[in-house]
Amino acid sequence: MIFESHAHYDDRQFDPDREELLSSMGANGIGRIVNVGSDFAACRHTLELARKYEFIYGAVGVHPSDIEDLNEDVYEWLKETSSDPKIVAIGEIGLDYYWEKDPKVQSYQRYWFCRQMELAREVSLPVIIHSRDAAEDTLKIIKGIHGDEIPGVVHCFSYSPEIAEEYVKLGYYIGVGGVVTYKNAKKLKETVAKIPMERILLETDCPYLSPEPNRGKRNSSLNLSYVVKAIAELREITEEEVQKATYENAFRLFSKVK
Ligand code: NI
Repeated sequence: MIFESHAHYDDRQFDPDREELLSSMGANGIGRIVNVGSDFAACRHTLELARKYEFIYGAVGVHPSDIEDLNEDVYEWLKETSSDPKIVAIGEIGLDYYWEKDPKVQSYQRYWFCRQMELAREVSLPVIIHSRDAAEDTLKIIKGIHGDEIPGVVHCFSYSPEIAEEYVKLGYYIGVGGVVTYKNAKKLKETVAKIPMERILLETDCPYLSPEPNRGKRNSSLNLSYVVKAIAELREITEEEVQKATYENAFRLFSKVK
């Protein structure tokens, strides 16, 4: 069984066949899915999906590229919603300096990242962190607010093996998806080979980042078998071992999942 730790089935790209696709997950070995909110609409849709499908759980939070959606009312909504039995994490939250170069907006991202980290602490949920071109500031913020007390995963990890080690020391998990199958993903391959197996989670970030041989096409959790295969090769263990370890890791992190 596979635990998919990061999907966006609320995305418009799934409108034509969402029901059919989600209904096929169990038969294809996908045991649990965490659907992750990005903007406010996606968070509401995530809650609907989590309530509709037994094997789907949700994370609510606002992505750094969508922080214009955040205000005190939405923050209160996130807080209330986080007590729903199917909501298992706050996310995705973080910093994205790749798409946002304006220092003023970047500081606004840092403000809401801190607020949402504090929310996670308050409601005792783990966090799902998005961090792109902002390695230093992300770590600085986590260390500054004693973020090691808040369990979490750095999703779609894109930094060096050295930075992965720092997160692992803080108790964080590393989310690994389709990128690990790409020929040019040297840093990620090195990271996956090096970090403790107890810290790796499987994820797609679907509909984005399809693994080889489906790169460029719409992604779904059904492609995770390619990610499992790549990790097994890098660590020289069996695919079953990868599935089992990552499944247990996800249950450990998302402790509300049944
Ligand atoms: Ni995502």
